[in-house]
Amino acid sequence: MNKFGKWSAAIAFTTLMVVTTACGGGSNTNNNAEPASTNTTTNTAQTTNSGGNSGGGESKTISLGFSQVGAESGWRTANTKSIQDTAKEVGFDLKFSDAQQKQENQIKALRSFIQQKVDVIAFSPVVESGWDTVLKEAKDAGIPVILTDRAVDSADKSLYVTFIGSDFVEEGRKAGQWLVDQYKDSAEDINIVELQGTTGSAPANDRKAGFEELIKSNSKLKVIASQTGDFTRAKGKEVMQAFLKAHKDIDVLYAHNDDMALGAIQAIEAAGLKPGVDIKIISVDAVKDGMQAASEGKINFIVECNPLLGPQLMEAVQNVVDGKPVEPRIVTIESTFTSEQAKEALPSRQY
Ligand code: AHR
Repeated sequence: MNKFGKWSAAIAFTTLMVVTTACGGGSNTNNNAEPASTNTTTNTAQTTNSGGNSGGGESKTISLGFSQVGAESGWRTANTKSIQDTAKEVGFDLKFSDAQQKQENQIKALRSFIQQKVDVIAFSPVVESGWDTVLKEAKDAGIPVILTDRAVDSADKSLYVTFIGSDFVEEGRKAGQWLVDQYKDSAEDINIVELQGTTGSAPANDRKAGFEELIKSNSKLKVIASQTGDFTRAKGKEVMQAFLKAHKDIDVLYAHNDDMALGAIQAIEAAGLKPGVDIKIISVDAVKDGMQAASEGKINFIVECNPLLGPQLMEAVQNVVDGKPVEPRIVTIESTFTSEQAKEALPSRQY
């Protein structure tokens, strides 16, 4: 069994490798952390890989520069842990940098990885646009780039090897489908408020688009307010307070992640309303805290977004270094949970 054996088995249960030429449809905040340039940690594991990238059968530790979005949500914390734990397990030299949700920090980190001549760069882009220049710099330096979790909108697909992560449009569709089914017989208008993720990010753009695509089939379903909550609990609470002040007749909240939904629940309760009853709530992620709220009936429906991308990423890195083919799009298979299903799944939830 190779060093990915254990991980590959785990992946088989939760994910499917899908070949497609189209790439990417698209709080526990850490705001006091150091800027990305000084916030890079290195995994000092000295294990060597047997494939190597020297072409001469020589052993060499693979160096991987990884630029993370930040620490904005429970999902992100689980994603970071998965990447760090798996890199350690397989013996890669991981240079990890936290961008604190700022694109300029990510660009700085990528340039620093290029200077350090890492074998592979991977990153989860905070927003979709504005990456071409730095990606060209990596290409010119001969360093392959892998996207994880979020996509970029670069027209030149040769700037990166693959994009590993969820189909966010599909996640939005699943949220919309649940709502369409719930209110198919409604004679009255259903007023929806939406808490969007970080402005310009792939999950915010795509979850909104997928949701709108489905709900437009029923003219009673009306989005009366939509604003960013930046994927954080604090912002979710603040924006929901404003929604409640401005609108007395909210029927449904659609939050692009659990953390914002959890912040909004605090605002709803403070306003003397019952989350999940007076206002139905749909969210995305299915992290433990979200599943807990769902099992208590405070969130009615959660669309899963799997953060455990470490095994797939490390396997792709190894293949790239070994010169083996890598699929241009690797999609994570995900599920959905009603309150009842969340109650059942909660005890065995990993993150
Ligand atoms: O990119 C994935 C999204 O980013 C998750 O849904 C959200 O919780 C996170 O912050």
